Amino acid sequence: MKIAVSILKSNYSELETIERINETHAEYIHLDIMDGIFVPRTTPEFEYLQTSNKPIQVHLMVSKPLEYINKYNLPNVETIIIQTEIWEDIKELLKYIKSLGKRAGLALNPETSIDMLKPYLNMIDDVLILTVHPGLGGQKMLTEVTNKIEDLVELRKAKNLDFLITVDGGVNDGTIGLVNKTDITVVGSFICTSDDFNKQIEKLIK
Ligand code: DX5
Ligand code: ZN
Repeated sequence: MKIAVSILKSNYSELETIERINETHAEYIHLDIMDGIFVPRTTPEFEYLQTSNKPIQVHLMVSKPLEYINKYNLPNVETIIIQTEIWEDIKELLKYIKSLGKRAGLALNPETSIDMLKPYLNMIDDVLILTVHPGLGGQKMLTEVTNKIEDLVELRKAKNLDFLITVDGGVNDGTIGLVNKTDITVVGSFICTSDDFNKQIEKLIK
């Protein structure tokens, strides 16, 4: 299991948060983008993404992803994930993300069934399971949603597919045991509101 650190809720400035993550053993930075429509809040402008020495996983919690896909088509962005619940042509968007040389992913809100992935299973590189309602760092995990992880692992095996499974929301040293069948675990406030990022990560991967 790899760790992606979400910088949405941090005790430090964006630059200092990224510098501190650079010093850790985490494999990715997770970047949450919000448009004020799909979720109530809006993301501030990011200025220091190029200082990250980790690949970036961009999570677009937005209703109209195209402009954001273009904006975050940056060299150190490895993966771009869009939400399944939007009223857009998802197949076209996934194809577009892949045409940029990025991994393409789909995120599921807590109440969205994994059945919604079926039309896209052959096109996706990543699936992100939200275990909190999107839009805010530091929420409590909706533990009942973690059942989806096992179902998705089964589905992937049954269909002989190789997409990666990411879980996102409310992960800490008390909840990590519920999500350790995933490939990538997003962790935000548990790491970024502490003064020793590596110590927090060690509590998760021990
Ligand atoms: C929820 C975001 C998450 C969140 C994770 O809207 O997609 O990435 O920031 O943060 P924690 O770990 O604090 O729940
Ligand atoms: Zn996220």
